[in-house]
Amino acid sequence: MNLNAIILAAGKGTRMKSTNPNVSKVSFEILGKPLVNYVLDSVNGLNPKKIITIIGYGGEKTKSLVEYCSTTVWQKEQLGTGHAIMQVKDELASLDGNTIICCGDTPLLTKETLEKLVKEHENKGNDLTVLSAIVENPFGYGRIIREDNGDLFAIVEQLDCDEEQKNIKEVNVGVYVFKNELLIKHLDDLKNDNKKHEYYLTDLIKIFKENHYKVGASIIEDNNEMMGVNDRIQLATATALMVQRINKKHMLNGVTIIDPNTTYIGPDVEIGADTIVYPNCMILGKTSIGERNEIKSSTFMDTVIVENDNVIGPMANLRPGVHIHNNTRTGAFVEMKKVDFKDGAKAAHLTYLGDAIVGEKTNIGGGTITANYDGKHKFVTEIGKNAFVGTGSTIIAPCHVGDNSYIAGGSTINKDVGENDLAIGRAYQVNKEGYAIKIREKQNKNH
Ligand code: UD1
Ligand code: CA
Repeated sequence: MNLNAIILAAGKGTRMKSTNPNVSKVSFEILGKPLVNYVLDSVNGLNPKKIITIIGYGGEKTKSLVEYCSTTVWQKEQLGTGHAIMQVKDELASLDGNTIICCGDTPLLTKETLEKLVKEHENKGNDLTVLSAIVENPFGYGRIIREDNGDLFAIVEQLDCDEEQKNIKEVNVGVYVFKNELLIKHLDDLKNDNKKHEYYLTDLIKIFKENHYKVGASIIEDNNEMMGVNDRIQLATATALMVQRINKKHMLNGVTIIDPNTTYIGPDVEIGADTIVYPNCMILGKTSIGERNEIKSSTFMDTVIVENDNVIGPMANLRPGVHIHNNTRTGAFVEMKKVDFKDGAKAAHLTYLGDAIVGEKTNIGGGTITANYDGKHKFVTEIGKNAFVGTGSTIIAPCHVGDNSYIAGGSTINKDVGENDLAIGRAYQVNKEGYAIKIREKQNKNH
């Protein structure tokens, strides 16, 4: 059956207490990826015909995050989740089949759970199926109210609960599958006669029930997926759950993670077998790491490619556009950005390489800097293979350093260096015999 999807992402996220008016709640990040993109990726996994994201507060930012696979519709004033769906009434009218609605602030939900819910909705021939969870602390969530025979009857929001309802531990996760035509038909029946004076999407359950439609609530299998992120404590809790989930996946794939509690790997990172990740590393973005690498403590990587058999860190900072080939060494306090670091290359200590190509087996001495920026533009440094760059050298780009060449330590290089050449770019040393004694005598006289 046809499936379409709506993601609710217009809310301000008052409880995040942000002072930045351009930031929507769903653009807050877990491991470098915005909340809404976790939801979008799970929803996209269902192959829906169309995904519509409802944007509002901080909407331009949200729009830029979801545009790659979703259309967007504005909700100019945020008058509740039901009001949000009213904004897409016209779009819905042209669709048929079922519509799945998810909140943009539930990043832990997996594609598998959503798939199961849609299947159940279809198999049971439901008009509406709600995803629920049974939790120890239901505070803040809408409570699932069931009839005596166990059938779903209504959802009551936290603020509108009476004392008895507050004790109910079955809550609304915020995912719904609707028969599309009935959703459109009853959207205008929603009222805002509640404590928050908002149009609640959740009121549709009771309305569907009153119209004798077939509604059901399906209980989630893994409670770790249900949580919504409404404040920064929940953001940290959701991050911790995501960290565990991701690290587990890599360890089961053959990656050694020495301390999974202090290792932060983004959801889109790939790591090959027998790579070892030491404590306190953060590996983000679309990073791809091959096999048998050692990523030593406190290394940070964002969107880099690392092939096989490399040693990186401790305390390396590898920024977007870095490609490390095989059998290389990157040591402590080495920062790289947009670098092609070929097989067997080494930069073992205290170095900045930016917009650079480093050839096979070239050694970059400690303290080397590629000066790639003149305050306005960036320039490339190209270093050939088997070159030796002496310690403390500054190479001012654009610059080409030939194969098998040698740069004397402490040089400032602003001219190309030819193949097999030795470049020395520093003042010659002068030794004044016995002069240290004179200096000391002078100093003693003055005090
Ligand atoms: C909502 C549910 C609650 C459920 C919980 C699950 C309602 C009324 N309540 O509560 O039953 O237990 O999620 O996490 O639906 N949004 C809009 N426009 C608006 C208001 C909200 O797009 O006018 C979006 C938000 O950006 C957010 C989502 O809808 O992504 C949920 O809104 P939120 O305010 O977080 O609802 P909860 O109070 O958590
Ligand atoms: Ca929420």
